[in-house]
Amino acid sequence: MAAAPSSARWPNERTKGLVGTLRPPASGLPAGDEKRRAVREMFDTIAGRYDLLNRVNSLGMDRGWRRRCVSALELPAGSLVLDVACGTGDLCDELARQRYRPVGLDLSPGMLAQARARTAHRVDAGAPGRGERGPAPAPLVLADALGAPFRPAYFDGAVSAFALRNVVDLGQLFRQLAYAVRPGGRVSLLELSRPESAVLRFGHGLWCNYAVPLVGSLFSDAPAYRYLPKSLAYLPPPEEVVGMLEGAGFAAVQHVLLAGGTCQIYLATAGRHLAPRTSRRGGPEMPEMSASNGSNVSGSNTGTPNAGTEGKAARS
Ligand SMILES: C[S@@+](CC[C@H](N)C(=O)[O-])C[C@H]1O[C@@H](n2cnc3c(N)ncnc32)[C@H](O)[C@@H]1O
Repeated sequence: MAAAPSSARWPNERTKGLVGTLRPPASGLPAGDEKRRAVREMFDTIAGRYDLLNRVNSLGMDRGWRRRCVSALELPAGSLVLDVACGTGDLCDELARQRYRPVGLDLSPGMLAQARARTAHRVDAGAPGRGERGPAPAPLVLADALGAPFRPAYFDGAVSAFALRNVVDLGQLFRQLAYAVRPGGRVSLLELSRPESAVLRFGHGLWCNYAVPLVGSLFSDAPAYRYLPKSLAYLPPPEEVVGMLEGAGFAAVQHVLLAGGTCQIYLATAGRHLAPRTSRRGGPEMPEMSASNGSNVSGSNTGTPNAGTEGKAARS
């Protein structure tokens, strides 16, 4: 476990120009709308084999990381937790296993379709009837997290896994989460990272730059799995991310390293309750929004990301 230096404030002289953005793309990586489009298309393309490649590329460790990410929330059982950029729904499952009520949100229709397909036939452990026993399907929302019209303080917590480097504007994501999570609620954000130790860094580099693209080209989409390791370059250093979370209104921000520093978790408690800069009335910054059952969830000024349209997510 490694706490980020608390003296590091963000933005500072070095990072002033980065307010509200991810660092400029390295080595020709896309930015802005081009990145949003590329990310969505890429995840639509690789959705079918995404879970398999996740297990292989992380040598099976991603399951433990997800467990850790969720258990670090430390919220009461039954808390309503948003899984931002939920993808195929692994973290939603883990939330349900740990007795939370998950709501998944993602901008890739392909990833959400995969999430639905793998949970559609599930039956609650205690329920009668036939079917695969496991966590009940979570309500899923198709939306861009950066523009979703969240209802203020609606969620008790939020999690994400491997999403930070994929969003176009990390500051905006944090402001959205600070708005959507109630004061005192918790966020736990899991992401890959590069180890500090020279030896581990060398091995990690070999694995990411050679093994991951090779496995990707054999079983999925070669360009996507060449891009994924490169996308680590989007991540600001931990002290900047900590500063961005604090700037968005979070308190008690912690940075935790896992697996020799190949993985990291940002933990924070929602404090101040600020409206994000995005217009809450829709307009060009609001991308398409629809619940996974096809019903429209846009159009409301302060509407829930219709987490509430599907009964299980409704606030009591
Ligand atoms: C590496 S995958 C992670 C999926 C899942 N969280 C997991 O643990 O496997 C990144 C996901 O982020 C989603 N994503 C990227 N930018 C997003 C945004 N602005 N809003 C919602 N989802 C986003 C992508 O569609 C993709 O499903």
